[in-house]
Amino acid sequence: MICSYNILAPVTFGSGSVSQTGRICSELGGHKALIVTEKALVKLGLTDKVCASLKEAGIEYAIYDGVLPDAPDTVAAEGKEAAVKLGADAVIGVGGGSTLDSAKAISVYTATGWTMERFMQPGPPVDNPKLITIMIPTTFGTGSESTQIAVVSNTKNGYKTGIGCIPSAAIIDPELSLGLPRGVTAYTGMDAFSHAAEVLCSNAVENPHSDLLAYDAIGRILKWLPVAVEDINNLEARENLALASNFAGIAFADAIVNLGHAMAHALGAECHIPHGIACAWVTPCVMEFMGPVCGDKYRPVAEMMGLDVSGCDGAEVARRCASFLRDFMKKLDIPTCTSFKLTEKDFLDRADYVKNEAMRGLGKRVPNDEEVSELLSAVYNSCK
Ligand SMILES: [Fe+2]
Repeated sequence: MICSYNILAPVTFGSGSVSQTGRICSELGGHKALIVTEKALVKLGLTDKVCASLKEAGIEYAIYDGVLPDAPDTVAAEGKEAAVKLGADAVIGVGGGSTLDSAKAISVYTATGWTMERFMQPGPPVDNPKLITIMIPTTFGTGSESTQIAVVSNTKNGYKTGIGCIPSAAIIDPELSLGLPRGVTAYTGMDAFSHAAEVLCSNAVENPHSDLLAYDAIGRILKWLPVAVEDINNLEARENLALASNFAGIAFADAIVNLGHAMAHALGAECHIPHGIACAWVTPCVMEFMGPVCGDKYRPVAEMMGLDVSGCDGAEVARRCASFLRDFMKKLDIPTCTSFKLTEKDFLDRADYVKNEAMRGLGKRVPNDEEVSELLSAVYNSCK
């Protein structure tokens, strides 16, 4: 087997590690940093330690707090204005997935000087020119701090586009996620689970390094996500989930997410369902769909779930894992699709989006048009 795998961004991990931001930015050559975040996080004081660390290192900074859900391309343009005004040579994203992706987008959009049309052209991920780009996640889902992609919403056509941007560094401080509400904890954790689960059925850049990280992430999430949801101030749970999220992110930087994210993006882009919730809904159905061709990859997952799958074929292993996962999500109070007032037709109407989404074709089993509709129907009926 010939394969390749990468670790794209150096990671500084640990409680209190955000105090290293100034040093890391300075060592990367940064003198003026634009902090990209959300208004709510500034109010909660999550950017305070970042600012203090930059100040201590003598780095000038400004805060852009205009990040919006689903990282619309308009934020790249707005953030670029803030970056140019500051004369920024560095962008520091502090927040969840939309924030980190917005920070990457602002970094590339500022450094390249491209038109918005050029910037939003779909294409293979590449290491685009960028400012120094430092990622500081505050949730467990994204993995963006260790991937080469920013998912940006095209406000002209409603599609999500992958912008290539390899971060210069990631700083993962689990203390920043203490007190994250139980709902956000649950569904961002399920986003990370979906990354790991899709790595195991990926047909793109499959490799044992990604598998190893995916299994480790799944084990940590199964053990620690219920703990973190019950006790939002449990630091040990937060540390394990932060690692799980990062490991799953590194894993899918190579073995790319696929069918599940094609459907989750459709639900996010067109129905504005939070990404982690959409990922939670689709993951069991994706496992069942992939089961007949690669269900044996889920055998270690079944063991971590405490399931006896001896004598089961791959399809049955996948079915049992999916069933366990649905119960697991119920215990985490993942919202149902009817709580968003979605109907089965709303799901079926997303079929065209999924058919046009490149990730549909990156799994070990690729659904035909009819199967796309069957999958969307199955997702609705298992989450209503
Ligand atoms: Fe995701």
